[in-house]
Amino acid sequence: MIFASDNWAGASAPVAAALAAAAAGMAPAYGSDAVTRTVEARFREVFERDVAVFLVTTGTAANALSLQALMRTAGMVICHEGAHIHGDEAGAVEFFSGGRLHPVPGAAGKLDADAVASAIGRYPAGGRNGRPVAVSLTQASELGTVYRPDEISAIADTARAAGLSVHMDGARFANALVSLGVSPAEMTWRAGVDVLSFGATKNGCWCAEAVVLFDPSRAEDLRYARQRAGQMVSKSRFLAAQFEAYLHGDHWLDNARHANAMARRLADGIVAGRFGRLNTPCEANEVFAILPDAARRRAEAAGARIYPWPPTGDAEVREGETLMRLVASFATSAEDVDRFLAILGDG
Ligand SMILES: Cc1ncc(COP(=O)(O)O)c(C=O)c1O
Repeated sequence: MIFASDNWAGASAPVAAALAAAAAGMAPAYGSDAVTRTVEARFREVFERDVAVFLVTTGTAANALSLQALMRTAGMVICHEGAHIHGDEAGAVEFFSGGRLHPVPGAAGKLDADAVASAIGRYPAGGRNGRPVAVSLTQASELGTVYRPDEISAIADTARAAGLSVHMDGARFANALVSLGVSPAEMTWRAGVDVLSFGATKNGCWCAEAVVLFDPSRAEDLRYARQRAGQMVSKSRFLAAQFEAYLHGDHWLDNARHANAMARRLADGIVAGRFGRLNTPCEANEVFAILPDAARRRAEAAGARIYPWPPTGDAEVREGETLMRLVASFATSAEDVDRFLAILGDG
């Protein structure tokens, strides 16, 4: 009953097999191997256009390098106040890009075009405080919700009208994608996204993330930036091997569908059994549920791993309750979900 995080899951069987196969023999280093070329071609196929792809080891590195690619002198990135880049990356974006973050609140973990417009409006051109240069959206959001393509477009249009670029933190990209039932292109560049942190670790890889530039002319700078950041992995064939297996056929989408279905089973079970309340709609692979402390203690005593989550503006957490985050992954079983629900209801 591990619902602590999707990165508690190991690697999926095809990814683990690909890693084992990549361990044999010799291959050119520093991204010059044949599998890396195959993976780059696969990314072009997935996104239906030319893209520049940089394989890295962590989501934090992908975000920091993505936003470094968009940064300008005295620049600022507008993000949600709950964004991972704001609260959980120890200032990596600021450190690597030299810019700052401007966090703004937003219902259900999401920014909207009005909030972005008013944040931009706080920095008149030529002012002494610096200038907003990018908006960063997290898809799926840090509260388990997803941005529809029209919501992304509205934000991107607002950003673009003021000369800003758009970054997407897609640590849970596949979960959002299958939830919406749209194409990778529709959820990104067709909606106005310029740079994507493409996550794979949480959904079946051991350690593989990518920066995807929809404007490949930005690639030259990023090549140096990745090297400087210590993210040019010498035996990068192991990153490529993971991506090759991950993106083969529908493996990545199937993993995400399973994770989302398990989260939905959890959310539906909590609501149907009246074991707690949902803080935000379950739209991907995470459930944010307000649970009575007694139920939480019972579950934890039975070995469940779940994390309390700091309530934000939307949460109505009463005395004797805690907002908990429950995360499902490709490795979550229906039996574990049902056992957990039975314990919650056993009060
Ligand atoms: C939304 C989001 N972005 C980025 C990351 C960063 O990933 P990593 O821990 O690999 O640096 C995470 C990890 O939890 C995340 O949830």
